[in-house]
Amino acid sequence: MLHLKLETDPRWVTIVESNIEEILTDHAWCEQKAATNAITIITHNSEHEELVTELLKLAKEELEHFQMVHDIIKKRGYTLGRERKDHYVNQLYKFMNKGGSRQQSFVDRLLFSAMIEARSCERFKLLSERINDEELSKFYHDLMISEAGHYTTFITFARQYGKGIDVDKRWQELVEFEGILIKSYGKSETIHG
Ligand SMILES: [Fe+2]
Ligand SMILES: [Fe+2]
Repeated sequence: MLHLKLETDPRWVTIVESNIEEILTDHAWCEQKAATNAITIITHNSEHEELVTELLKLAKEELEHFQMVHDIIKKRGYTLGRERKDHYVNQLYKFMNKGGSRQQSFVDRLLFSAMIEARSCERFKLLSERINDEELSKFYHDLMISEAGHYTTFITFARQYGKGIDVDKRWQELVEFEGILIKSYGKSETIHG
């Protein structure tokens, strides 16, 4: 359903299992970034009532996810570490069209968001299936469903607001780019690492 080019090597889960505190810290900040991203899109495209309505809902869900991760961190006696940089997302960001029309940048921002949701969803699925931790397995299963919904929201809006732009072609270009990019990841205990 997500149409990603490359699945994550399951050995990534073993790396994650070796440092649960780190993955939870990184994950918490991913949720913060997802909420911030939704609010940024709203800020720049406030005239689209349906978009604002849906992305406000989405931003609230991401904040709830942040809170859920933080609750697990507290329950386990861990500390939420400082914000982690997300190199994968930063590299994906560079692919976006910034010199084109406002509509083109808008569509690219929505596709970029859809891609992060898709890859996060794929990683959560793998964690839910493989992680040797009952609580986290259930937790990541529930989040996988939520992030799949967000993926659909972003891709649907890209098509809706991309009239006159070949959105599917642009999505394919992004899928190709991400398929190459992700090859250098899967080696560290972060959600996109
Ligand atoms: Fe989330
Ligand atoms: Fe999400």
